Amino acid sequence: ADVKKIAVIAGDGIGPEVVAEAIKVMNKTEELFGYKFSFEQGLFGGIAIDEKGTPLPQDTLDMCKRADAVLLGAVGGPKWDNNPKELRPETGLLGIRKALGLFSNIRPATIFDCLKEASTLKPEVLEGTDLIVVRELTGGIYFGEKFRREGENGQEAVDTCVYNVAEVERIVRQAFEIAQKRRKFLTSVDKANVLETSRLWREVVNRIAPEYPDVELEHVLVDNCAMQLLRRPSSFDVIVTENMFGDILSDEAAMLTGSIGMLSSASLGEGAFGLYEPVHGSAPDIAGRGIANPIATILSVALMFRLTFGYEDAAKSIEDAVAEVLNAGHRTGDIAVDKSKAIGTQAMGELIVAAMRK
Ligand code: NAD
Ligand code: IPM
Ligand code: MN
Repeated sequence: ADVKKIAVIAGDGIGPEVVAEAIKVMNKTEELFGYKFSFEQGLFGGIAIDEKGTPLPQDTLDMCKRADAVLLGAVGGPKWDNNPKELRPETGLLGIRKALGLFSNIRPATIFDCLKEASTLKPEVLEGTDLIVVRELTGGIYFGEKFRREGENGQEAVDTCVYNVAEVERIVRQAFEIAQKRRKFLTSVDKANVLETSRLWREVVNRIAPEYPDVELEHVLVDNCAMQLLRRPSSFDVIVTENMFGDILSDEAAMLTGSIGMLSSASLGEGAFGLYEPVHGSAPDIAGRGIANPIATILSVALMFRLTFGYEDAAKSIEDAVAEVLNAGHRTGDIAVDKSKAIGTQAMGELIVAAMRK
Protein backbone atom coordinates (compact mmCIF):
# COMPACT_ATOMS: atom_id res chain seq x y z
CA ALA A 1 0.00 0.00 0.00
CA ASP A 2 0.92 3.66 -0.34
CA VAL A 3 2.51 4.49 3.01
CA LYS A 4 2.70 8.21 3.79
CA LYS A 5 5.76 9.27 5.76
CA ILE A 6 4.96 11.75 8.49
CA ALA A 7 7.73 13.53 10.37
CA VAL A 8 6.64 14.44 13.88
CA ILE A 9 8.39 17.24 15.74
CA ALA A 10 6.53 17.78 18.98
CA GLY A 11 8.78 20.47 20.44
CA ASP A 12 8.29 22.12 23.82
CA GLY A 13 5.65 22.96 26.42
CA ILE A 14 2.22 21.74 25.38
CA GLY A 15 3.63 20.66 21.99
CA PRO A 16 4.09 16.99 22.95
CA GLU A 17 0.74 16.95 24.80
CA VAL A 18 -1.34 18.10 21.82
CA VAL A 19 0.68 16.13 19.24
CA ALA A 20 0.01 12.89 21.17
CA GLU A 21 -3.73 13.39 20.62
CA ALA A 22 -3.22 14.20 16.93
CA ILE A 23 -1.35 10.92 16.50
CA LYS A 24 -4.30 9.03 18.00
CA VAL A 25 -6.48 10.66 15.35
CA MET A 26 -4.09 9.52 12.60
CA ASN A 27 -4.06 5.98 13.98
CA LYS A 28 -7.86 5.93 13.98
CA THR A 29 -7.80 7.18 10.38
CA GLU A 30 -5.70 4.17 9.37
CA GLU A 31 -8.21 1.85 11.04
CA LEU A 32 -11.26 3.49 9.50
CA PHE A 33 -10.09 4.30 6.00
CA GLY A 34 -7.23 1.87 5.38
CA TYR A 35 -4.68 4.63 4.76
CA LYS A 36 -1.16 3.85 6.00
CA PHE A 37 1.19 6.18 7.80
CA SER A 38 4.70 5.74 9.08
CA PHE A 39 5.89 8.09 11.80
CA GLU A 40 9.35 9.35 12.57
CA GLN A 41 9.99 11.64 15.54
CA GLY A 42 12.71 14.28 15.71
CA LEU A 43 14.10 16.74 18.24
CA PHE A 44 13.18 20.35 17.59
CA GLY A 45 13.11 23.64 19.49
CA GLY A 46 14.18 24.09 23.10
CA ILE A 47 14.51 20.38 23.76
CA ALA A 48 16.87 20.11 20.77
CA ILE A 49 18.94 23.01 22.14
CA ASP A 50 19.26 21.13 25.44
CA GLU A 51 20.09 17.76 23.89
CA LYS A 52 21.93 18.69 20.70
CA GLY A 53 23.02 22.29 21.11
CA THR A 54 20.88 23.63 18.25
CA PRO A 55 17.12 24.23 17.79
CA LEU A 56 17.05 22.58 14.35
CA PRO A 57 19.45 19.62 14.25
CA GLN A 58 20.52 18.47 10.78
CA ASP A 59 19.02 14.98 11.28
CA THR A 60 15.64 16.52 12.15
CA LEU A 61 15.72 18.64 9.00
CA ASP A 62 16.78 15.61 6.92
CA MET A 63 13.91 13.62 8.40
CA CYS A 64 11.46 16.36 7.39
CA LYS A 65 12.89 16.47 3.86
CA ARG A 66 12.41 12.70 3.51
CA ALA A 67 8.80 12.91 4.72
CA ASP A 68 5.58 13.52 2.79
CA ALA A 69 4.35 15.90 5.50
CA VAL A 70 5.44 17.29 8.85
CA LEU A 71 3.36 17.59 12.01
CA LEU A 72 4.72 20.19 14.42
CA GLY A 73 3.60 20.90 17.99
CA ALA A 74 5.07 24.15 19.27
CA VAL A 75 8.40 25.49 20.44
CA GLY A 76 9.73 27.96 22.97
CA GLY A 77 9.64 28.69 26.65
CA PRO A 78 11.10 30.88 29.40
CA LYS A 79 14.11 28.58 29.77
CA TRP A 80 15.50 29.73 26.41
CA ASP A 81 14.14 33.29 26.33
CA ASN A 82 17.43 34.97 27.11
CA ASN A 83 19.52 32.84 24.77
CA PRO A 84 21.36 34.41 21.84
CA LYS A 85 19.52 34.24 18.51
CA GLU A 86 21.15 31.00 17.25
CA LEU A 87 20.16 29.24 20.45
CA ARG A 88 16.51 30.28 20.46
CA PRO A 89 13.75 27.73 19.71
CA GLU A 90 11.99 30.31 17.49
CA THR A 91 15.10 30.52 15.28
CA GLY A 92 14.63 26.80 14.59
CA LEU A 93 11.04 27.42 13.57
CA LEU A 94 11.99 30.17 11.13
CA GLY A 95 14.84 27.98 9.88
CA ILE A 96 12.67 24.97 9.14
CA ARG A 97 10.07 27.08 7.28
CA LYS A 98 12.81 28.63 5.16
CA ALA A 99 14.72 25.39 4.56
CA LEU A 100 11.56 23.61 3.40
CA GLY A 101 10.46 26.52 1.17
CA LEU A 102 7.15 26.94 3.00
CA PHE A 103 6.23 30.46 1.92
CA SER A 104 2.49 30.13 2.29
CA ASN A 105 0.84 29.80 5.68
CA ILE A 106 -2.87 29.10 5.62
CA ARG A 107 -4.74 29.81 8.84
CA PRO A 108 -8.50 29.18 8.68
CA ALA A 109 -10.75 30.72 11.34
CA THR A 110 -13.94 28.72 11.17
CA ILE A 111 -16.59 29.22 13.81
CA PHE A 112 -18.27 26.21 15.33
CA ASP A 113 -21.77 27.52 16.07
CA CYS A 114 -21.87 26.05 19.56
CA LEU A 115 -18.68 27.94 20.48
CA LYS A 116 -20.13 31.40 19.85
CA GLU A 117 -20.62 31.76 23.58
CA ALA A 118 -16.91 30.98 24.13
CA SER A 119 -15.82 34.01 22.12
CA THR A 120 -15.38 37.37 23.77
CA LEU A 121 -17.39 38.89 20.91
CA LYS A 122 -21.18 39.07 20.68
CA PRO A 123 -22.74 36.04 18.92
CA GLU A 124 -24.56 38.25 16.39
CA VAL A 125 -21.23 39.81 15.31
CA LEU A 126 -19.79 36.32 14.70
CA GLU A 127 -22.77 35.08 12.68
CA GLY A 128 -21.56 33.68 9.35
CA THR A 129 -17.85 34.19 10.04
CA ASP A 130 -15.64 31.88 7.98
CA LEU A 131 -12.32 33.36 6.93
CA ILE A 132 -8.80 32.30 6.04
CA VAL A 133 -5.64 34.26 6.71
CA VAL A 134 -3.01 33.57 4.04
CA ARG A 135 0.25 34.68 5.62
CA GLU A 136 3.52 35.08 3.72
CA LEU A 137 5.92 32.96 5.77
CA THR A 138 9.52 33.20 4.55
CA GLY A 139 10.13 36.89 3.93
CA GLY A 140 9.68 40.33 5.39
CA ILE A 141 11.02 41.64 8.67
CA TYR A 142 11.39 38.12 10.10
CA PHE A 143 14.13 37.31 7.61
CA GLY A 144 15.73 40.69 6.85
CA GLU A 145 19.12 41.68 8.14
CA LYS A 146 19.21 42.27 11.90
CA PHE A 147 21.97 43.89 13.87
CA ARG A 148 23.01 46.14 16.72
CA ARG A 149 25.22 49.19 16.34
CA GLU A 150 26.48 52.17 18.25
CA GLY A 151 24.45 55.25 17.39
CA GLU A 152 24.92 58.84 18.48
CA ASN A 153 22.81 58.16 21.56
CA GLY A 154 24.16 54.74 22.43
CA GLN A 155 23.15 51.29 21.29
CA GLU A 156 20.68 50.88 18.44
CA ALA A 157 18.95 47.79 17.02
CA VAL A 158 18.00 47.38 13.37
CA ASP A 159 15.52 44.97 11.74
CA THR A 160 15.14 45.31 8.01
CA CYS A 161 12.00 44.39 6.06
CA VAL A 162 12.58 43.17 2.51
CA TYR A 163 10.20 41.78 -0.11
CA ASN A 164 10.93 41.15 -3.77
CA VAL A 165 8.34 40.99 -6.54
CA ALA A 166 8.55 37.21 -6.96
CA GLU A 167 7.93 36.61 -3.25
CA VAL A 168 4.82 38.77 -3.30
CA GLU A 169 3.56 37.29 -6.56
CA ARG A 170 3.64 33.67 -5.47
CA ILE A 171 1.78 34.23 -2.19
CA VAL A 172 -0.78 36.55 -3.77
CA ARG A 173 -1.46 34.05 -6.57
CA GLN A 174 -2.07 31.32 -3.99
CA ALA A 175 -4.47 33.60 -2.15
CA PHE A 176 -6.40 34.43 -5.33
CA GLU A 177 -6.64 30.71 -6.12
CA ILE A 178 -7.93 29.94 -2.63
CA ALA A 179 -10.47 32.76 -2.95
CA GLN A 180 -11.66 31.35 -6.30
CA LYS A 181 -12.62 28.13 -4.51
CA ARG A 182 -14.46 30.01 -1.75
CA ARG A 183 -16.64 33.14 -1.70
CA LYS A 184 -14.37 34.94 -4.20
CA PHE A 185 -13.52 37.89 -2.02
CA LEU A 186 -9.88 38.76 -1.34
CA THR A 187 -8.67 41.33 1.18
CA SER A 188 -5.04 42.35 0.73
CA VAL A 189 -3.68 43.86 3.92
CA ASP A 190 -0.69 46.19 3.96
CA LYS A 191 0.60 49.47 5.35
CA ALA A 192 1.06 51.13 1.96
CA ASN A 193 0.59 54.58 3.48
CA VAL A 194 3.95 54.20 5.26
CA LEU A 195 6.00 51.20 4.16
CA GLU A 196 7.84 50.83 0.84
CA THR A 197 7.51 47.01 1.02
CA SER A 198 3.75 47.52 1.31
CA ARG A 199 3.68 49.83 -1.72
CA LEU A 200 5.46 47.13 -3.73
CA TRP A 201 3.02 44.55 -2.33
CA ARG A 202 0.01 46.60 -3.42
CA GLU A 203 1.48 47.21 -6.91
CA VAL A 204 1.96 43.49 -7.40
CA VAL A 205 -1.55 42.67 -6.16
CA ASN A 206 -3.07 45.23 -8.53
CA ARG A 207 -1.02 43.96 -11.47
CA ILE A 208 -2.08 40.34 -10.90
CA ALA A 209 -5.73 40.99 -10.03
CA PRO A 210 -7.01 41.16 -13.65
CA GLU A 211 -5.93 37.52 -14.08
CA TYR A 212 -8.59 36.61 -11.51
CA PRO A 213 -11.60 38.60 -12.75
CA ASP A 214 -14.04 36.43 -10.80
CA VAL A 215 -12.45 37.47 -7.48
CA GLU A 216 -13.40 40.78 -5.90
CA LEU A 217 -10.41 42.55 -4.37
CA GLU A 218 -10.17 45.09 -1.57
CA HIS A 219 -7.07 46.71 -0.07
CA VAL A 220 -7.20 47.41 3.66
CA LEU A 221 -4.52 49.03 5.80
CA VAL A 222 -3.40 46.74 8.59
CA ASP A 223 -4.50 48.95 11.48
CA ASN A 224 -7.95 49.29 9.98
CA CYS A 225 -8.04 45.54 9.30
CA ALA A 226 -7.30 44.78 12.96
CA MET A 227 -10.34 46.89 13.82
CA GLN A 228 -12.60 45.53 11.04
CA LEU A 229 -11.85 41.95 12.13
CA LEU A 230 -13.71 42.69 15.34
CA ARG A 231 -16.36 44.94 13.78
CA ARG A 232 -17.41 42.88 10.73
CA PRO A 233 -15.61 39.50 10.81
CA SER A 234 -18.23 37.80 8.64
CA SER A 235 -17.50 40.15 5.74
CA PHE A 236 -14.00 38.67 5.25
CA ASP A 237 -13.34 35.63 3.07
CA VAL A 238 -9.60 35.38 2.30
CA ILE A 239 -7.08 37.79 3.82
CA VAL A 240 -3.60 37.85 2.29
CA THR A 241 -0.78 39.66 3.99
CA GLU A 242 2.91 39.81 4.76
CA ASN A 243 4.65 37.76 7.42
CA MET A 244 4.39 39.91 10.54
CA PHE A 245 0.93 41.33 9.85
CA GLY A 246 -0.30 37.78 9.27
CA ASP A 247 1.20 36.61 12.55
CA ILE A 248 -0.64 39.30 14.48
CA LEU A 249 -3.96 39.23 12.61
CA SER A 250 -4.25 35.44 12.85
CA ASP A 251 -3.95 35.46 16.64
CA GLU A 252 -6.64 38.14 16.63
CA ALA A 253 -8.80 36.04 14.30
CA ALA A 254 -8.38 33.12 16.70
CA MET A 255 -10.56 34.88 19.23
CA LEU A 256 -13.44 34.86 16.76
CA THR A 257 -13.42 31.07 17.13
CA GLY A 258 -13.34 31.23 20.92
CA SER A 259 -9.71 30.35 21.57
CA ILE A 260 -6.24 30.24 20.08
CA GLY A 261 -6.49 26.53 20.97
CA MET A 262 -8.87 26.11 18.01
CA LEU A 263 -6.76 27.55 15.18
CA SER A 264 -5.01 25.15 12.79
CA SER A 265 -2.51 25.94 10.07
CA ALA A 266 -0.89 24.58 6.94
CA SER A 267 2.47 25.81 5.65
CA LEU A 268 2.96 25.06 1.98
CA GLY A 269 5.40 25.67 -0.85
CA GLU A 270 4.88 25.02 -4.54
CA GLY A 271 4.09 21.30 -4.27
CA ALA A 272 1.91 19.05 -2.11
CA PHE A 273 4.43 18.77 0.73
CA GLY A 274 3.37 20.69 3.82
CA LEU A 275 4.08 21.37 7.45
CA TYR A 276 1.07 21.38 9.74
CA GLU A 277 0.95 23.05 13.12
CA PRO A 278 -1.44 24.78 15.49
CA VAL A 279 -1.25 28.58 15.39
CA HIS A 280 -0.69 28.74 19.14
CA GLY A 281 2.65 28.42 20.91
CA SER A 282 4.03 26.21 23.65
CA ALA A 283 1.80 27.82 26.32
CA PRO A 284 4.33 27.61 29.16
CA ASP A 285 1.66 28.84 31.59
CA ILE A 286 -0.35 25.61 31.23
CA ALA A 287 2.31 23.13 30.02
CA GLY A 288 2.60 19.79 31.80
CA ARG A 289 -0.87 19.97 33.32
CA GLY A 290 -2.79 18.00 30.69
CA ILE A 291 -5.31 20.80 30.14
CA ALA A 292 -4.30 22.23 26.74
CA ASN A 293 -6.85 22.15 23.95
CA PRO A 294 -5.67 19.63 21.31
CA ILE A 295 -8.24 20.69 18.68
CA ALA A 296 -5.95 23.14 16.81
CA THR A 297 -3.45 20.33 16.27
CA ILE A 298 -6.13 17.78 15.42
CA LEU A 299 -7.66 20.15 12.87
CA SER A 300 -4.16 20.66 11.45
CA VAL A 301 -4.10 16.91 10.75
CA ALA A 302 -7.37 17.34 8.84
CA LEU A 303 -5.69 20.05 6.78
CA MET A 304 -2.75 17.70 6.12
CA PHE A 305 -5.09 14.98 4.90
CA ARG A 306 -6.94 17.40 2.63
CA LEU A 307 -4.11 19.54 1.25
CA THR A 308 -1.11 17.20 1.08
CA PHE A 309 -2.66 13.74 0.69
CA GLY A 310 -6.03 14.54 -0.92
CA TYR A 311 -7.78 12.38 1.72
CA GLU A 312 -10.93 14.51 1.79
CA ASP A 313 -12.97 11.72 3.39
CA ALA A 314 -10.58 11.47 6.35
CA ALA A 315 -10.31 15.25 6.69
CA LYS A 316 -14.10 15.53 6.80
CA SER A 317 -14.35 12.71 9.31
CA ILE A 318 -12.03 14.59 11.70
CA GLU A 319 -13.83 17.91 11.29
CA ASP A 320 -17.22 16.27 11.78
CA ALA A 321 -15.96 14.46 14.86
CA VAL A 322 -14.70 17.73 16.37
CA ALA A 323 -18.06 19.37 15.67
CA GLU A 324 -19.94 16.45 17.20
CA VAL A 325 -17.87 16.45 20.39
CA LEU A 326 -18.26 20.22 20.77
CA ASN A 327 -22.00 20.02 20.04
CA ALA A 328 -22.29 17.43 22.79
CA GLY A 329 -20.98 20.10 25.17
CA HIS A 330 -17.45 18.84 25.85
CA ARG A 331 -14.98 21.66 26.46
CA THR A 332 -11.36 22.12 27.44
CA GLY A 333 -10.79 25.02 29.85
CA ASP A 334 -9.97 27.60 27.19
CA ILE A 335 -13.38 27.23 25.50
CA ALA A 336 -15.46 26.33 28.56
CA VAL A 337 -17.98 28.83 29.86
CA ASP A 338 -18.27 26.80 33.07
CA LYS A 339 -14.59 26.12 33.78
CA SER A 340 -15.46 23.66 36.56
CA LYS A 341 -16.80 21.23 33.92
CA ALA A 342 -13.73 21.44 31.68
CA ILE A 343 -12.09 18.23 30.48
CA GLY A 344 -8.38 17.60 29.82
CA THR A 345 -6.26 17.21 26.70
CA GLN A 346 -6.40 13.42 26.60
CA ALA A 347 -10.12 13.21 27.30
CA MET A 348 -10.80 15.65 24.46
CA GLY A 349 -8.50 13.75 22.08
CA GLU A 350 -10.11 10.43 22.92
CA LEU A 351 -13.66 11.77 22.54
CA ILE A 352 -12.78 13.03 19.06
CA VAL A 353 -11.20 9.69 18.11
CA ALA A 354 -14.32 7.88 19.34
CA ALA A 355 -16.58 10.19 17.30
CA MET A 356 -14.71 9.58 14.00
CA ARG A 357 -16.69 7.63 11.43
CA LYS A 358 -16.12 6.48 7.89
P1 NAD B 1 0.97 30.94 23.29
O1 NAD B 1 0.14 30.76 22.07
O2 NAD B 1 1.88 29.84 23.65
O3 NAD B 1 -0.01 31.20 24.54
C1 NAD B 1 -0.87 32.34 24.62
C2 NAD B 1 -2.00 32.05 25.61
O4 NAD B 1 -2.91 31.12 25.00
C3 NAD B 1 -1.53 31.41 26.90
O5 NAD B 1 -2.32 31.88 27.96
C4 NAD B 1 -1.79 29.93 26.68
O6 NAD B 1 -2.03 29.19 27.86
C5 NAD B 1 -3.03 29.94 25.79
N1 NAD B 1 -3.03 28.78 24.89
C6 NAD B 1 -2.24 28.59 23.80
N2 NAD B 1 -2.49 27.41 23.24
C7 NAD B 1 -3.47 26.83 23.97
C8 NAD B 1 -4.17 25.58 23.89
N3 NAD B 1 -3.90 24.67 22.93
N4 NAD B 1 -5.11 25.30 24.82
C9 NAD B 1 -5.41 26.20 25.76
N5 NAD B 1 -4.78 27.40 25.91
C10 NAD B 1 -3.82 27.70 25.02
O7 NAD B 1 1.76 32.31 23.11
P2 NAD B 1 2.88 32.99 24.05
O8 NAD B 1 2.56 32.74 25.47
O9 NAD B 1 3.02 34.33 23.57
O10 NAD B 1 4.21 32.19 23.69
C11 NAD B 1 4.75 31.14 24.45
C12 NAD B 1 5.97 30.55 23.76
O11 NAD B 1 5.56 29.90 22.56
C13 NAD B 1 7.01 31.59 23.34
O12 NAD B 1 8.27 31.01 23.55
C14 NAD B 1 6.76 31.79 21.87
O13 NAD B 1 7.90 32.20 21.16
C15 NAD B 1 6.32 30.42 21.45
N6 NAD B 1 5.44 30.36 20.28
C16 NAD B 1 5.66 29.31 19.45
C17 NAD B 1 4.83 29.12 18.36
C18 NAD B 1 5.05 27.94 17.49
O14 NAD B 1 5.77 27.04 17.85
N7 NAD B 1 4.48 27.91 16.30
C19 NAD B 1 3.76 30.00 18.14
C20 NAD B 1 3.57 31.06 19.03
C21 NAD B 1 4.41 31.23 20.10
C1 IPM C 1 3.71 31.58 14.88
C2 IPM C 1 4.68 32.03 15.94
C3 IPM C 1 6.06 32.22 15.33
C4 IPM C 1 5.95 33.33 14.29
C5 IPM C 1 7.19 32.55 16.33
C6 IPM C 1 7.24 31.57 17.47
C7 IPM C 1 8.51 32.61 15.64
O1 IPM C 1 4.23 33.17 16.59
O2 IPM C 1 3.91 30.51 14.29
O3 IPM C 1 2.71 32.28 14.67
O4 IPM C 1 5.97 34.53 14.64
O5 IPM C 1 5.84 33.00 13.12
MN1 MN D 1 2.21 33.73 16.05
